[in-house]
Amino acid sequence: MTSETFFYSHARFALVEALRMTGVGPGNEALLPAFICRDVLASINHLGASAVFYQVDRSLRPLELVKRDSIKAVIAVNYFGFPQDLEPFVSYAIETGVGIVEDNAHGWLSKDSEGRLLGTRTTVGITSFRKTIRVVDGALLHVSDHANNSVSPHQVDTNTDALPLAFRIRRISARIERKSDIPLLRLLRHATRVLRKITSGNALPQSSYLSEVNLPDDSRPHQDSLDHYKSLNQEIEIRRRRHLYSLVQQKLASAPTQPVFTTLPEGVAPYGFPFLCESADLPEVERSLRKLSVEVISWPDLPSAVETGAPGFYQQVRLVNFL
Ligand SMILES: Cc1ncc(COP(=O)(O)O)c(C=O)c1O
Repeated sequence: MTSETFFYSHARFALVEALRMTGVGPGNEALLPAFICRDVLASINHLGASAVFYQVDRSLRPLELVKRDSIKAVIAVNYFGFPQDLEPFVSYAIETGVGIVEDNAHGWLSKDSEGRLLGTRTTVGITSFRKTIRVVDGALLHVSDHANNSVSPHQVDTNTDALPLAFRIRRISARIERKSDIPLLRLLRHATRVLRKITSGNALPQSSYLSEVNLPDDSRPHQDSLDHYKSLNQEIEIRRRRHLYSLVQQKLASAPTQPVFTTLPEGVAPYGFPFLCESADLPEVERSLRKLSVEVISWPDLPSAVETGAPGFYQQVRLVNFL
């Protein structure tokens, strides 16, 4: 048997299958980092299982990985497309017999120092390519040939509906901006924020507890997303992300920020440029990046169970998004 790839609209659906394959189900538990976006919990809840959290240090490496019989899977996250050191997870898996799920939602096309493609380094891995290229949706599950194929997932259908208008406007704006230097996408982003502020009181979208329990409506990937995934020139995409990373690094060198990663290793195709900064300094940071037409977001929206008592730096991580 060779390795297989299954496509979904969102990585959360791929994660459901990955966890199911490792034995996560009603009444048992999955171990995942506390430094994570709350949406990921929907996959665990969907299976009737519970989340157990481990903390990470400032390098985003795991601190203690708790052991108990009810834990059936451990999730290792390649934050921002940078390879997670799998060694502690492999030792944990050998000791406990649980499966490792490589969460590579951020790291499509990224490789580790041994040239291994992230998301394919463990028996099951998930990747959300919709986060790094402009598609309406798109994620995948990678299942290696060592996997237990008695619980192998099946490929869901493809969505061929018309693309939503808002998405088409964003895509066209991005194309015009790229070709003409007219900052259409930036203006669109600004207008959306102003409108949201007027209608909801918040400039940025606010997630709620519901995203910890509800999966997105449709698990089917759009045909347009799959076409883009297959036809993309991967070398150009990797170069684009690495180039932007260096540009942002230069621009932020004298800003009140601290990069999460000090180097950009060979092979890494970053999701964005992650850094730490105080909320009060954000406007200055955004000003220094204005010419690049990139968006700065805070990441992650922490799960409600870990929000109180989380280490301070969890709340200070921002991301210059390269999408
Ligand atoms: C680390 C991580 N894993 C998984 C996901 C889920 O990805 P998707 O939004 O494609 O379901 C996200 C984002 O929500 C994420 O940041």
